[in-house]
Amino acid sequence: MGERTILLQTKSSATRFKKMTNAFISVKWTMILMLLPVMLSLYKCMQKTVLDLCELDSCPLCYGTNMCSEIQAGNVTLQYNTLKSAFYNIFSVKNVYFAKCGGKNCILKKLVHRHEFLEIGSHGDTEMELVKYLMSVSDIKKFKICNQHTAEEFLKQLKYDDIRHIDILLQLNVEPLLLQIFNKENDWPIPKFYGSCGRLAIMEYAGKDLNTIEHADWFKRAYVAHKILEAAINFTLNHPVFRLYLTDISPDNIVVDDQLRISFVDLEHGILNSKLQGKKNLHASDHYLDENYAFSESEICHSDISDHNIYSVCKLLLSQFALWPMMNKGLLHDPPEHVKKEYSNLFIDIEDCLHSKEGKDRFLIADHILDNLSLLLKNNVF
Ligand SMILES: *[C@@H]1O[C@H](CO)[C@@H](O)[C@H](O)[C@H]1NC(C)=O
Ligand SMILES: *[C@@H]1O[C@H](CO)[C@@H](O)[C@H](O)[C@H]1NC(C)=O
Ligand SMILES: *[C@@H]1O[C@H](CO)[C@@H](O)[C@H](O)[C@H]1NC(C)=O
Repeated sequence: MGERTILLQTKSSATRFKKMTNAFISVKWTMILMLLPVMLSLYKCMQKTVLDLCELDSCPLCYGTNMCSEIQAGNVTLQYNTLKSAFYNIFSVKNVYFAKCGGKNCILKKLVHRHEFLEIGSHGDTEMELVKYLMSVSDIKKFKICNQHTAEEFLKQLKYDDIRHIDILLQLNVEPLLLQIFNKENDWPIPKFYGSCGRLAIMEYAGKDLNTIEHADWFKRAYVAHKILEAAINFTLNHPVFRLYLTDISPDNIVVDDQLRISFVDLEHGILNSKLQGKKNLHASDHYLDENYAFSESEICHSDISDHNIYSVCKLLLSQFALWPMMNKGLLHDPPEHVKKEYSNLFIDIEDCLHSKEGKDRFLIADHILDNLSLLLKNNVF
């Protein structure tokens, strides 16, 4: 048995914080009216410009420079048009800012806090040296590259002007790198990555988090569930070179836009392995009744293919026993009576998907879930 990693603790404090902020945002209008003058005065005295946020003086290199001219030209502007965006932008909540990039909604992320920032070092200026660095970090990091071969392929696939940007991102937050490799142009369900300037990474605004559709029409939720499970399989199977196992799947890290398109955001936690031929040495995630959600990084890395993504989606999002921060009774809560009757298999399959053990193939169960969802969506126009 390899070591078990429970990432839930570290994750949940961030999630709890976000929940609290969301709760804060949804308090009654009276509260809002009381806060408004405070907000306005804060807005006046804290008028930040996007260029200030880049902190080019403290970090001229950082994540990149390709968005600097856009920012200097005034094409990226902070938005205060919704309560949430004003709140985030004024108080620097989670270091995320809502902005407009040349007319389109976008997100500016500072990626890490200042103290983390001071700890970074330099690990060389060749890909070889960075591979060596990646293989030498023994402590569990948010992002794990399984082996040297995978690390070499990963660096080979990245495009960059200055390898020092890659060095810094590997240490701080790999999201911009993953957004490049699993890019939107190739139809990966992720936000479009626009680029960086100093301490800012800039990406498309891709929608609201999954909890915002808690009370949406059941068939809309079924449609989204189908997309999410399909994406989980795609991250496992579809990239020509890699398998990406997501280790921070949560309702906050998947967003949905007005057309019910999904995107995985905050892609900084994951395990990257390279693809080998065939499906031999399948790793099946164990389900523990006594643990909330656990997985073994080393078992996943030592397999050729793992059902980790499918297990995580079933367990954390779809199951009626999905835990907080997922909505009560999971994404498919309260189905219409006729669906419950005609597609009873679907709900059995979803629970089977998480309890599955002794070689019951989760890939097969996932296919059944997807087929049944497609069929019922075809038969019920929404
Ligand atoms: C800023 O936006 C304008 C209008 O969309 C565009 O013509 C210009 O090229 C942009 N500037 C930069 C530096 O990208
Ligand atoms: C998964 O991959 C298939 C095949 O490339 C594609 O048609 C589908 O849209 C993808 N699904 C998602 C949610 O990305
Ligand atoms: C629905 O699920 C059942 C049970 O897993 C499976 O036998 C059946 O093939 C699925 N239906 C479709 C249309 O795929």
